[in-house]
Amino acid sequence: MEIILKNATFKYGEKLILDDINLSVKKQEHIGILGSSGGGKSTLLKVIAGLYEITQGTCSVAGYQDLDSIRKQVAVVMQSAGLFPMSIRDNITCGHFISDERIKEAIEAAQLDSWIHSLPDGINSYVGERASKVSGGQAQRIAIARAIAKDAPIILLDEPTSALDDETARAVMLALQNLTKGKTVVHVTHRIDTLWDCDCIYELRGGKLYDAKFKPSF
Ligand SMILES: Nc1ncnc2c1ncn2[C@@H]1O[C@H](COP(=O)(O)OP(=O)(O)OP(=O)(O)O)[C@@H](O)[C@H]1O
Ligand SMILES: [Mg+2]
Repeated sequence: MEIILKNATFKYGEKLILDDINLSVKKQEHIGILGSSGGGKSTLLKVIAGLYEITQGTCSVAGYQDLDSIRKQVAVVMQSAGLFPMSIRDNITCGHFISDERIKEAIEAAQLDSWIHSLPDGINSYVGERASKVSGGQAQRIAIARAIAKDAPIILLDEPTSALDDETARAVMLALQNLTKGKTVVHVTHRIDTLWDCDCIYELRGGKLYDAKFKPSF
């Protein structure tokens, strides 16, 4: 098993968000987690990403339980892309040494190459404060390129297409397919139609995790 949560409980202060959750994800399995707004989906993803320590229970990711090691094993594409006010290139490398060739591959796989080539400063273009100089879809694809370049075995997706129009969402979906191929994936969303490639789907409700009662029909 690549991800194991055992009786995992998480609270923000006194507020219980994840209530005694059990989850096992096999290597290279793609799972989806549905839930309504405020239900704790992003919180669960941050726990699996090693960003938050659970209050009770155990969380093991790629065999690790300490947060620093867990963070090295996961690449995350969050709800809002979370770009830094730096260049596209720096947003992809995040200060790590990544070869030009790998950056080029990541840009192509993220469907960014033609747009980047059209920019006067190319990959050295500044994305602006809070990504103000790029569109939502471009920002999301830069975040996907970052995740591809990290080449982590576990990919965590938090509504990566929710804020996009249909056409842009399709380009981002293509980028996501390239990111998630052969990886272990946890994808949280409130829209079941984005979970078309999942092996199984769960539902987060009232802090508890259930098997989804319905099967998607695609
Ligand atoms: N840093 C925080 N401190 C305190 N409470 C928080 C914090 N982040 C989230 N919450 C609360 O925890 C609950 C779960 O939030 P979370 O963001 O995990 O939900 P979500 O299912 O991802 O929602 P959405 O679909 O809107 O993204 C919410 O009630 C939220 O207000
Ligand atoms: Mg969320």
